[in-house]
Amino acid sequence: MKRSDTANDSSIGNKAEAYEAFDDIPTNPNLSRTIGDVINARYGRRDLLKGMLGVSATAALFGSSALMAPSGARAAGHAASRYVFDELTAGNDETHHIADGYDAQVLLRWGDPITADAPDFDVMNQTAAAQLKQFGYNNDYVGFTPLNDAGTRGLLCVNHEYTNEEVMFPGLGRQDNDGFAGMTAELIDIEMAAHGGSVVEIAKDGSGKWALVKDSTYNRRITPLDTEMTFSGPAAGHARLKTNADPDGMTVIGTVNNCAGGMTPWGTYLMAEENFHGYFWTDVVDADGKPDVSAHPEADKLKRYGVPGGWYAWGKFHDRWNIDKEPNEPNRWGWIVEVDPRNPEATPIKHTALGRFRHEGSETTVASDGKLVIYSGDDNRFDYQYKYVSNGIVTADAGFGSSLLSDGTLYVARFDEDGTVTWLPLVHGTGPLTAENGFDSQADVMIDTRIAADMLGATPMDRPEDAQPRGDGTAYIMLTNNTRRKADQVDAANPRAESSFGHIIEIKEDGGNHSATSGTWSILVKCGDPAIADVGAQWNPETSENGWFGSPDNCAIDADGRLWVSTDQGSSWGKTGKSDGLYAVETEGEARGTSKLFFRCPVGGEMCGPYFTPDSETLFVAVQHPGTDGTKDLVGFERESTFEDPATRWPDFDPAMPPRPSVVVITKTGGGKIAV
Ligand code: FEO
Ligand code: CA
Repeated sequence: MKRSDTANDSSIGNKAEAYEAFDDIPTNPNLSRTIGDVINARYGRRDLLKGMLGVSATAALFGSSALMAPSGARAAGHAASRYVFDELTAGNDETHHIADGYDAQVLLRWGDPITADAPDFDVMNQTAAAQLKQFGYNNDYVGFTPLNDAGTRGLLCVNHEYTNEEVMFPGLGRQDNDGFAGMTAELIDIEMAAHGGSVVEIAKDGSGKWALVKDSTYNRRITPLDTEMTFSGPAAGHARLKTNADPDGMTVIGTVNNCAGGMTPWGTYLMAEENFHGYFWTDVVDADGKPDVSAHPEADKLKRYGVPGGWYAWGKFHDRWNIDKEPNEPNRWGWIVEVDPRNPEATPIKHTALGRFRHEGSETTVASDGKLVIYSGDDNRFDYQYKYVSNGIVTADAGFGSSLLSDGTLYVARFDEDGTVTWLPLVHGTGPLTAENGFDSQADVMIDTRIAADMLGATPMDRPEDAQPRGDGTAYIMLTNNTRRKADQVDAANPRAESSFGHIIEIKEDGGNHSATSGTWSILVKCGDPAIADVGAQWNPETSENGWFGSPDNCAIDADGRLWVSTDQGSSWGKTGKSDGLYAVETEGEARGTSKLFFRCPVGGEMCGPYFTPDSETLFVAVQHPGTDGTKDLVGFERESTFEDPATRWPDFDPAMPPRPSVVVITKTGGGKIAV
């Protein structure tokens, strides 16, 4: 499919959906090592030998029909999941819903003033200057670090992944299929000011209600318009990072497409740069009018990374987003950024030791040997799961800019059919990562992480999204979907062709140590409707018709070590008939593989966050792009949303206000730990 075909496909409802659909076209050329249908061989050997005839083995051996008992036919006496709440009813409508007994309060909306001198939000008269002091668009990752021992004050760190111009600006409509004709320099600066992140102080009052502390000196925006950052690690200062604006290769303005992220053990905020390719532009086109990068000095590398994506017109007005003018600029994006939320004067750092790819997620843990470990996915069809391990150990004096984030080893995962996962080191001089293969130094290995991982024989996955370590050597990997995987590309870790609904992999690192270079893996659930045999779903049969879901995306572990999963079905929510939401997914005991619905989004919204406070009494979730995805499938609406005519005006329901991406804070009515 050509880029222009995607942009003009009437079945794709908005630019964000088209952006994702275009990513259906894998950039990984290295798919020859995928194998045939080995699921039965893999489960028959490992799980049976271990005597653990769990849900996975049951499904593999007896077929998914064994797992499709309707809720009414469920056998009595089975162990219940540990999550104590009455499940919400699945569905899709104009607003959000939370399980009975809980309060879900909108805490921060796009445009809310977050600094003492910020102007009130005026949606009809937006300016970049105002947006730089207001909460940004499309909240995704949410992190929290307490400011007092009681945990009643803290800093909320929120990523603003991207913008949807058709519901953000009046009278504009979707721009990418019209050459961005309506995009002015000021609108583009507003878009840039709405990207990035926010750090805000919040406080809980005596009644348990959280609110923004608007005059806090901690409050600030981090944006690709005006926030200076520096580089650390092997690629810092490298020739391939040098531009006209930065001849030292050490300074870059901002960060983009910050999706799932993480918090470090020392309380700093990690912003992962995901779909950075979409912001790059070229004026050079071939005879068919398609972007032509063949004359670029790194043409093959650009191709592997999908640059230039051309999903934003920033390159029309800012030279650095135009690869014709700044050929090295793409090498400065696709990293993990560290921000010190406690020091607004501290310059954020792009840590190049963690590699360059479409980073999704950067949650940290301290391994049993004391090393810092970070799991991060590369969210593209047929791309890889990575893990970073520091060389040093985490000590009490580690802080912002710690060498633990610049001195370590990045690994990429190979999932074998025998149930082992092997972490392959991305180290210059190791195996094929040598000068004769195009890697002159560790800087090259990090800048070209994807290409290095191709050479190591990593396993191409079904879009690795967020990943969550639990601290005991267990990690959960969200594989969201991959409709492009063909039957002959199925493998044990990616067991379904044309997977619309995704699956979750559980990793158990050897010795319970997150820094181990090998471990075992199993499939926790295969998502989708268990009542439809062709879907091939795998859930514990205790899961109700409200509890199953499609397209796992973000995840969290609560204070009791329990897994929570949020979904992003995109325009395909019509395949499930359910909005996106937050689910409690049991990983232990007889209830392993059950799921219960806790919160659901308004139509067209994606469920991001989630993040628990350390006491597990507060849960933050982020509703991203409400009113946009797949609204043609909403009965009674059945058209694309625009600023003037959106499918929902959540959360304000003001006829003068479009839908606003917002962070929601969830607490138990009357207080107490969530789901306990
Ligand atoms: Fe931004 Fe992969 O979700
Ligand atoms: Ca995501």
